[in-house]
Amino acid sequence: AMESGVARLDIVDWDQYKIELMKRMGIYNKLVRDIRTRAKSDKKRIIFSDADNFKVLKAVEVVRSQKIAEPILLGDRQKIEEIANENNLNVLDLPIIDNKAKEQAEKRREYAEILYQKRQRKGLNREEALYQMLDRNYFGTMMVEVGEADGFIGGFSNKYADTIRPALQISGTNNTLNHIAGMYIVMTKKGPYFFADTTVNYQPATRTLADTTLLTVNEVKKFNIEPVVAMVSYSNFGSTREGSPKRVRNAVDYLHENYPDILVDGEMQANYAFNAELRAKRFPFSKLGNKEVNTVIFPSLSSGNIAYKMMHELGQVEIIGPILLGIRKPIHVLQQQSSVREIVDMAAITVVDAQTKEDKIIEL
Ligand code: ACO
Repeated sequence: AMESGVARLDIVDWDQYKIELMKRMGIYNKLVRDIRTRAKSDKKRIIFSDADNFKVLKAVEVVRSQKIAEPILLGDRQKIEEIANENNLNVLDLPIIDNKAKEQAEKRREYAEILYQKRQRKGLNREEALYQMLDRNYFGTMMVEVGEADGFIGGFSNKYADTIRPALQISGTNNTLNHIAGMYIVMTKKGPYFFADTTVNYQPATRTLADTTLLTVNEVKKFNIEPVVAMVSYSNFGSTREGSPKRVRNAVDYLHENYPDILVDGEMQANYAFNAELRAKRFPFSKLGNKEVNTVIFPSLSSGNIAYKMMHELGQVEIIGPILLGIRKPIHVLQQQSSVREIVDMAAITVVDAQTKEDKIIEL
């Protein structure tokens, strides 16, 4: 309690605090601007599944007018037309793909055959493969797989797992770890933070935690930010011996040994992750020194997921994500509460992802 009191006194000077905030907000605004500018530099064809939803369709209009991407609408044609007409949205000259319609029967058969070839030794038969193509996630992911689109944004009206399972089954992973994980960018007043894994791996073992960290570090660098990583838990550097702190600690050991260049440390409690001064004072041996952490790796799916949602609701901060890491193709998933602005940001991220992915396997 004493320590946090001392640390807080340092920012009691309100004017100085405001200047510091603005500096950090500058980073935040720049981050979003950078992503959008990069997207525009080389536009990509992005599928919006759930295009028959008002917010998604409104976002599509923004994306097209700001020239962030070339949208392809995937969904029920009649519904899309109704929503567009009712709300005067300038989107109806864009390509509309209604995967359940008769006109797509040939494509469904073609895609089903590809899926069957991929999954015949994983228990899938031809009839099931054909049936899967009535599902937008399978159909849209297949469009990206065969090159009829460059990226896919789905998930607004589905369960998250229903969008990433086809991505895993059809596209697979893009990295030598053969790993995927989910990340959120949390836009706080102190600047952007990268949170992972917030969406994929239920009960991560040591190696899964390490792999998630490696994927996340790789992604943070894409934003031209040098990752400073805290692996958080409910104990500090060995103060609790068993359970998730131990798994996190072992992951840190593994990373220190095999990836000495990465600025990562833990396990540590969240207050030490977010308060550099406090951490440097109490744990001067930490590899992070007094550097500000910008990347946080959580010990479990529960904690990661709860943390970003609490930040969103209680902290009233904007969040971008989930950004799916490790899938070979630019496939991303919206969350149901996404605002129009968040959907537009996600579209820009998907375009940048499509610009940089080029099907190559990342050595990690
Ligand atoms: N990394 C790499 N590959 C993976 C991973 C992973 N993390 N997880 C599964 N796979 C592989 C499987 O090994 C399998 O390989 P195969 O080709 O040999 O079959 C393939 O992906 C497909 O796996 P399935 O068995 O079909 O799918 P599974 O049931 O394992 O589901 C999934 C994977 C969907 C990612 C699952 O782990 C999941 O549902 N995670 C939690 C999702 C969730 O509910 N998140 C909560 C919040 S979402 C939000 O807040 C927005």
